[in-house]
Amino acid sequence: MRQPLVRTPLPGPRAQAALAREKGVLSPSYIRPYPLVPARGEGVFLEDVDGNVFLDFMAGIAVNTTGYAHPKVVEAVEAQARRFAHVCFSDFTHEPTLSLAERLVGRLGGRYRVFFGNSGTEGIEAALKLVRYHTRRPYVLAFTGSFHGRSLGSLSLTSSQAKYRKGFAPLLPGVVHIPFPNPFRPPFGAGKEEVGERVLAHLEHLFRTTLPPEEVGGIFLEPIQGEGGYILPPPGFLEGLWQLARRHGILLVADEVQTGAGRTGRFFALEHEGLEADIYVLAKGLASGYPLSAVLFREEIASWPSGAHGTTFGGQAVSAAAAHATLDLLEGGLMENAARVGAFLLEGLKEMQARFPFLGDVRGRGLMIGVDFGSPEEERPDLRDKAVELAFQKGLLTLPAGPSALRIAPPLILTKEEAGMGLSILEEVFKSL
Ligand SMILES: Cc1ncc(COP(=O)(O)O)c(C=O)c1O
Repeated sequence: MRQPLVRTPLPGPRAQAALAREKGVLSPSYIRPYPLVPARGEGVFLEDVDGNVFLDFMAGIAVNTTGYAHPKVVEAVEAQARRFAHVCFSDFTHEPTLSLAERLVGRLGGRYRVFFGNSGTEGIEAALKLVRYHTRRPYVLAFTGSFHGRSLGSLSLTSSQAKYRKGFAPLLPGVVHIPFPNPFRPPFGAGKEEVGERVLAHLEHLFRTTLPPEEVGGIFLEPIQGEGGYILPPPGFLEGLWQLARRHGILLVADEVQTGAGRTGRFFALEHEGLEADIYVLAKGLASGYPLSAVLFREEIASWPSGAHGTTFGGQAVSAAAAHATLDLLEGGLMENAARVGAFLLEGLKEMQARFPFLGDVRGRGLMIGVDFGSPEEERPDLRDKAVELAFQKGLLTLPAGPSALRIAPPLILTKEEAGMGLSILEEVFKSL
């Protein structure tokens, strides 16, 4: 598979049959942004059940770091599956999970501890429990537009769309949301330049009036908002937030579920800011599609005792082997590739922005790029949805994010040539909008 090739009208007959079958058996809560029914993948290409080949700029929602069926990942998974898949890491230590913990802690220069789970939401639950346990403070802060997961604890933090929360109240008490400093559509009617300061001033105001800061245990933050629209905070904002939190002994929890594992060109997105979190949560891209999350927390806050938290499957050996292979590839040049090819894509999209006025904002870091439709005053989800659908029809997989952004999150193995193919398809899509 070397280029996209759409052979049948989409969805093709086999895809249609699968979509008809699922209606009778699956939970109606599943989302289907477009009718893709995959059969096999190779590198950055995915073939559907009708033999149509797609260039993948969504990587299973920012998961497939090393593309589909990378030989090194397959080899590691096969070898571990022959030894054992599961013994229960919560009760018995084993390789390759133990050395994975050492490796992840090593990336932070030591003095962190690791807890393994299976998914992003489980990582966030663990972080939330640890914040509560260690600080014994009743409140936590999160940002509007954030996505931290869908289990009841993490859902209490999530606020990217009201439909995720609707019908599930009451959620966790003590969660306070503050506006995210979106430079493209700033809250408080603030200007682009001052939006970071305005949000920090709002937080200080809350601390003076309604929310005693000594009762706030942690701040949960995505260094780049993912599901909310691939939005970068303005320069200096995170530094300011860090200082404010430090002053009040509030723990900083970096939700790097989507930004982490090299997607932005560095292992942690926070590295771009020169900042360190008290707690990091990794998942999605960490094991190239095998279920794994890792919560890394500072040694000083590792106060919960044996048995306080655990899980049956977390740190399962096959996923850990896949993570080792993923880290080998990331350290072997994939992070640099994400930075290089990401810059190329961003430049190409910015050039198109100058020609297509409905492209209001093009932003991103590494291979985490958002294209926002409309203007600061007007969101155009209609155009965004149409663009995602047209791209699919032309053999390019993208996804929506936030109210009006199209997200681009390809596997980190993407070459410039493949990025160029995607840009050509997007150019055709924008022309026909
Ligand atoms: C930033 C962030 N945190 C947490 C989650 C939840 O991860 P999971 O779907 O694996 O539970 C996601 C998923 O999209 C995410 O993007």
